[in-house]
Amino acid sequence: MRIVALVSGTGSNLQAVIDAVRAGDLPLEIAAVGADRPGTRGIERSAEAGLETFVVDFKAFASRAEWDAELARVCASYEPDLVLSSGFMRIVSAEFIARFRGRYLNTHPALLPAFPGAHGVRDAMAYGVKVTGCTVHWADAGVDTGPIVAQRAVEIRPEDTEDSLHERIKVQERELLIEVLRGLAEGGIPSVDLPEQSPGADDADQSRR
Ligand code: GRF
Repeated sequence: MRIVALVSGTGSNLQAVIDAVRAGDLPLEIAAVGADRPGTRGIERSAEAGLETFVVDFKAFASRAEWDAELARVCASYEPDLVLSSGFMRIVSAEFIARFRGRYLNTHPALLPAFPGAHGVRDAMAYGVKVTGCTVHWADAGVDTGPIVAQRAVEIRPEDTEDSLHERIKVQERELLIEVLRGLAEGGIPSVDLPEQSPGADDADQSRR
């Protein structure tokens, strides 16, 4: 299984995937890691790991459609079996989803369908839920929507800050992501046949967090 991973930030979840592949615990090939902006830690650590990297800088394009088309083109050039959004903070178009239909996997730090969007951790705390968690799902053209593959619960402690909770969620998120990728690579988890997309996404940026 060949994957292209997309990151916007620190890429600590991706690092766990890189480590698992290197340790021989995850039978997949990371064909490339891409970002939507230059200078991210995620790209830096991928390069340090000797992986091929690319940046399709959102700000360098005149329109979202042009950026999105270029991102799809570059991803497709690696002929991936799966595109992984690992803390990729931009919503891609219905065209992108159609091109990688049922092959675009996202992780989110909340128990979807609760608390989608850019502030899943903060929103769960603000609501006052006592249990939140993380979700790995096939992304469709909505904001953190699409068929759920796996979830894990994480308790919210009275003393939690957004950061402390997010860090505890990420510990679970990394394990869950590796478990799902292993299941997909080994065939234990079936792929999905997503229906043709009706464009559901608004054009919001930074919606996955
Ligand atoms: C993860 O919690 C992911 O679900 C969310 O952003 C975080 C990415 O963290 N969208 P990192 O860049 O892997 O450290």
